[in-house]
Amino acid sequence: MKKTLLMIILCGMLLFGLSGCGETSTDTAGKVQVGVTYYNQTDTFLGELIDCFKNSLEEHNTGELEVTAMVREAAGSEKTQNEQVRELIDAGCNVLCVNLVDRADPSEIIDMARESDIPLIFFNREPVEEDMLQWEQTYYVGAPARQSGQMQGELAADVIRDGGVDRNGDGRIQYVILEGEADHQDAIIRTESVVNTLQEKGVELEKLDYQIANWNRAQAQNRMRQMIGQFHDEIELVLSNNDDMAMGAVDAYNALNYTEENRPVFFGVDGTAVGLQAVKDGDLAGTVYNDKEAQANVMAQLSVALVTGEGLDAIAFENERYIYVPYLKVDQENVDTFIERSEARPE
Ligand code: BGC
Repeated sequence: MKKTLLMIILCGMLLFGLSGCGETSTDTAGKVQVGVTYYNQTDTFLGELIDCFKNSLEEHNTGELEVTAMVREAAGSEKTQNEQVRELIDAGCNVLCVNLVDRADPSEIIDMARESDIPLIFFNREPVEEDMLQWEQTYYVGAPARQSGQMQGELAADVIRDGGVDRNGDGRIQYVILEGEADHQDAIIRTESVVNTLQEKGVELEKLDYQIANWNRAQAQNRMRQMIGQFHDEIELVLSNNDDMAMGAVDAYNALNYTEENRPVFFGVDGTAVGLQAVKDGDLAGTVYNDKEAQANVMAQLSVALVTGEGLDAIAFENERYIYVPYLKVDQENVDTFIERSEARPE
């Protein structure tokens, strides 16, 4: 009796042990488990990009391949994000996609990924080159910031050329800028290149002020209200680093009941659902499409290729490990195609 019991226990232990081991090896074969963490769920563009990414990953779910995603948002805390990366690794993710809270401090995340030998794709918030060089299994997917500033400048130059913007007729355009986070590559470079482009196009500019509003609509409304308080009707052009802040600026003018004739023209970047609608309605004179569908598609393609080892050749890298998806100009003429395109995405 005792012997039989012992045998049963031994067999059980053996079986349990075997299936435990077997599970890990057969389980991960044919499985792409993507661990995602992004800096803040209050960010409109990131929310839309993550939705696109989930859809793109779903498209890779075929009979042979099982693709799953675990998505976390870090609520603006670097510490939380580091813990999330640990959790995603422990949960068995075999590729990581990280939208850094602090783009200047990715070392801990790179270390964790390297120790577990899990490829690491940064997106939208670009680490500095020095950090990208820490490990050869790090990648970056984003968009060429300079181009977004250039396109915003070209759109604005066209509208200015058509007339009506220089309301005081002094031959110069009095403008203000709403900027994203101070150390974000897109904020710094967009601001610089939009102004350069307008100047290159021969537009005489007079900068009245700039304010940092951290990509955020409510903050932008606040800052814009202060600037209106200081400059009253003088502001002729509002250049915003993203659509949310451009909308915040429009909100400020609406709250003060400014008429069409006394308002500046507004330009954004992103082409979020709200931004595109605002271009259609004429609240924004134009925006620059931050191509979230294409960024999501290439990130999904790269995630799958890094895990399966197949398909890397089909991806167009710059500097071996960077992918920059081009921006597109949006104005009243073509906005409908972008609205249709965004709505075509499955929910
Ligand atoms: C987008 C912003 C967004 C930021 C977040 C930028 O590329 O234009 O709307 O808030 O990324 O990192």
